[in-house]
Amino acid sequence: MIISFVSCSGGGESPDNATDTDTADTTEAATEAQTAEPLETETEAPLPELGAAEFAYEDNAPSLAEEFKDFFLVGAAVNPDQFASPKSDTYKMIKKQFNTLVLENASKPDAVQPREGSFNFDVMDRFVRFGEKIGAVLRGHTLVWHSQCPDWFFFDKGEAASAELVLLRMNTHITTTVSRYKGRIHTWDVVNEVFGDGGGLRDSYWLERVGDHDGDGDKYDFIEAAFYAARAADPDARLIINDYGLETNTNKANTAYRAIRDMMKDGVPIDGVGFQMHISLGTNINTVRQNMKMFAKLKDINPDFKIEVTELDMSIYEWNENSTKEFDATLQKKQKRLYRELFELFIELSEEGLLDSVVFWGISDGNSWLNKSDRPNYPMLIGREFRFKDSYFEVVELARSKKQ
Ligand code: XIL
Repeated sequence: MIISFVSCSGGGESPDNATDTDTADTTEAATEAQTAEPLETETEAPLPELGAAEFAYEDNAPSLAEEFKDFFLVGAAVNPDQFASPKSDTYKMIKKQFNTLVLENASKPDAVQPREGSFNFDVMDRFVRFGEKIGAVLRGHTLVWHSQCPDWFFFDKGEAASAELVLLRMNTHITTTVSRYKGRIHTWDVVNEVFGDGGGLRDSYWLERVGDHDGDGDKYDFIEAAFYAARAADPDARLIINDYGLETNTNKANTAYRAIRDMMKDGVPIDGVGFQMHISLGTNINTVRQNMKMFAKLKDINPDFKIEVTELDMSIYEWNENSTKEFDATLQKKQKRLYRELFELFIELSEEGLLDSVVFWGISDGNSWLNKSDRPNYPMLIGREFRFKDSYFEVVELARSKKQ
């Protein structure tokens, strides 16, 4: 299935237009009409030969965004130093490889509003200008989170703040941030990691302070308030509930599914679920498939409902692993295979109209948050110095085989 905003994003248009197109023709007939459009196929440039370029920023390199444009957007989390200079290899690489972008840290509450009333939008403004210049679909991460969120939200003269005060502060934060980028930031991770690993809601200041504020018997209140505030601030933005482990922790996925279903039935404006997808070489693809597909039923409540992959990486270590190992031929092969299986699944989900965006958490192995000073990691498709990895070619070949 062709996603209408993909064709916009490649053409250097602004996300304003992308949003319009995105919400316009979503019927099957419209999609078919677009696919049948002869001019588009005639003007398409031939795909570059694999192996012609050594580095992912080169002009004759393949592009992940281009290869997957019929299926989903391909994106990355970036940092301001990476897009400071158009002449840098990093800038060129981001522009070449990705058509949707998010800031890795600079749009989190501690960066945006470190002290009450003192907003800092400098980096976000630069990010939006950069993203619009290269025609990328822009994402905002994140408005409500237990981590990287300053304590002032939750205290009042040293005491626990009331539910009303916490909700007021949350509302101000969301309204100020989302409305500033109205029509320009296409998708917001409205709340992040609100579900517990053992089922139920995660224990957090948000949950503790707001609780069951409306007395209806559930404690979704802070989540609901966040979504209503974001919708009011930008009615056209896509609003996502984002979490980790949903792809592998079925218990957590079940909790999330039920909570999201109930909130959506009550009219809470949730447009999609973000699967962070910080996985590892040991991840079971069948569990991932089952857990992602479970969310398809939410399309019965809202036909535009989507799932998204929001923070993809594939560590060579399990979460609790402390050893250090070589990324040797065996592990490279293992990674290549799992990336293929994963992208096969993503294509399948996109063809079912369920998935339209896949975002990596970082741009290359060398830039990943999973590196530790004494232990390098290799979680991405693009390696150090922006060299192509076998995993990269594997998924590109897959995309090409699906298009024939
Ligand atoms: C991480 C960043 O990558 C790090 O640089 C930072 O130190 C901590 O946060 N889930 C999320 C992301 O939603 O915001 C986190 O990002 C990674 C896990």
